[in-house]
Amino acid sequence: MYYGDDLVNEVREKNDIVDVISGYVKLKKQGSNYFGLCPFHNEKSPSFSVTPSKQMFYCFGCGKGGNVYTFIREYEGCSFQEAFETLAERAGVKVEKRELSEREKKEQSKKQRLMAINKRAATYYYACLRSPAGETGLRYLKSRGVDEETARSFGLGFAPPGGGLIACLKKEGYSDEEIRDSGLAVMNEKYGMTEKFWNRVIFPIMNISNKVVGFGGRVMGDGKPKYLNSPETAVFEKSRHLYGLNVARSARTDSLILCEGYMDVISMHQAGFKQAVASLGTAFTTSHASLLSRYAKSVLLLYDSDDAGVTAALRAIPICNEVGIVSRVVDLKPYKDPDEFIKNLGPEEFQKRLDNAVNSFYFELSVLEKRSNMSDPKGRSDFIHEAARRIAAIEDEIERDSYIKGVASRYMVEPRLLSSAVAKAAAASEGMIIRESLRDGRSANKPENEDGMHKAQRLLITAIADHPEIFSQVKAHIGPGDFLPGVIGKVAATLFEQLENDAYNPAAIIDMFDDEEEHSLVAKLFNSKYDGIEDVAGYERFVTDLVIKIKKNALESALPPGGDEDPLESVRQSRRMSDALRNIHIKIGG
Ligand code: GTP
Ligand code: MN
Repeated sequence: MYYGDDLVNEVREKNDIVDVISGYVKLKKQGSNYFGLCPFHNEKSPSFSVTPSKQMFYCFGCGKGGNVYTFIREYEGCSFQEAFETLAERAGVKVEKRELSEREKKEQSKKQRLMAINKRAATYYYACLRSPAGETGLRYLKSRGVDEETARSFGLGFAPPGGGLIACLKKEGYSDEEIRDSGLAVMNEKYGMTEKFWNRVIFPIMNISNKVVGFGGRVMGDGKPKYLNSPETAVFEKSRHLYGLNVARSARTDSLILCEGYMDVISMHQAGFKQAVASLGTAFTTSHASLLSRYAKSVLLLYDSDDAGVTAALRAIPICNEVGIVSRVVDLKPYKDPDEFIKNLGPEEFQKRLDNAVNSFYFELSVLEKRSNMSDPKGRSDFIHEAARRIAAIEDEIERDSYIKGVASRYMVEPRLLSSAVAKAAAASEGMIIRESLRDGRSANKPENEDGMHKAQRLLITAIADHPEIFSQVKAHIGPGDFLPGVIGKVAATLFEQLENDAYNPAAIIDMFDDEEEHSLVAKLFNSKYDGIEDVAGYERFVTDLVIKIKKNALESALPPGGDEDPLESVRQSRRMSDALRNIHIKIGG
């Protein structure tokens, strides 16, 4: 961060978070908070909250949170500096930029210029499509059934066979080096710098903030390759973008659709399925999946109905599992891809296929089944044992049970037999996990859920933030040193210091952390949910219990080890402790 803390505070305070976020998300007042549909994941009922008193946002659905800077960073996909400058301008605060180092300056302006080149190229191709030179392209799109509105909303364009982009960019003052770095030109020994795309319909690739980061081009006729993509550049990292996500992010459906290509996305959007996205000619990666997971909890895999499509789906399923997205597989047979399907059977039939998507576990089994010799007893038993192994790997017991029932009935196995095969497979793999963990020297246990003390401390931070007037009573018993180390301890220390100095400002605490994940963690500390509290008295009891629990933990961890050797001393200790705890009574508003 290179702007001074004072300035950062001033700009934050001059941009009320409710005002700013209202410019992006429709918010409705509900008690002392505002609620709306979360722009960071796909949802139908609002769990995105904005709290004016804390100047923070927090989504109870996806856990994203932070202050006004975090919001702009995440929404616009920009750096802290850019978010700061945007908000400074919005509030009319004049900021003197700190001198950037030469290297920073170069990097920054280089990226900005590459983005500007991309934008210029996109408008150039767009205009070409609608000029006489673009006739072939326009005819092609028409033949594929792309209507004018769709072409416009995807910014489709055309790179004419004769080129012209390089000349246009040069006229605008871009250097050869910049044009090369944008990936729009390639160096050729014989001809020097030539254009990357020619005689192709152009699909601009946009990031989630609708800024063009790269291009795809479909050849006219049968040339090779059929599709050509921009290379990775300083502003285009392929695994960080999904085609169509800039629109799909706000489609408000339960799941997003992941398909193969540009035309699939375009024809689905045109038919009203705006939740479709595609990975760009590259394989679907974990980075893609975690990008998806920000906007959806489940995904429909919609690959071509050929062997390559099945392979791609089989690859994508574990990647989705890894980031915790539920996946299902859509069957489009007898049609090859969504484009063909919709052209032939229309959107209603298409919707039915989406509704009938098969659970990815059964999809994997059905592929395996096809590859097994089910008429041979040995082949069939191998298949069932493999199914059992896969069921055994499922963590949730209830889910495991329903797969046992499902597989038993689908493949006509005695449920009892299948259960015992699953149990055996589980035991075998547990033995393996223990052996592995012994070898790697790590524990076989999974990390536990959020531990009780952390939760109590988080609830107390929220309580103090909601009722700063209780601080003086809390601090009579608990100091910042009584909090767990890590983010929570750092937050508590700063919060205590602020309140001590009459400078309560939770949104400022967020800025102590650079990482956006940490912003969400901090926002979560300030936005705990406590259920089942009915009145002030109940709330006071609840906060009192929290303070007692935290105090007790602090006292216990301060005890010298082995203090229980003297029985009298240990009695005295526990008496001192209960005396200390008995006096704790937190009152709201006093
Ligand atoms: P059309 O023939 O235009 O209908 O293509 P399609 O939409 O049926 O595309 P296809 O199934 O052939 O390919 C799906 C996606 O894979 C495309 O959108 C591209 O992203 C990618 N792809 C296909 N062919 C190529 C290629 O030759 N090179 C690269 N890099 N990607 C390709
Ligand atoms: Mn296809």
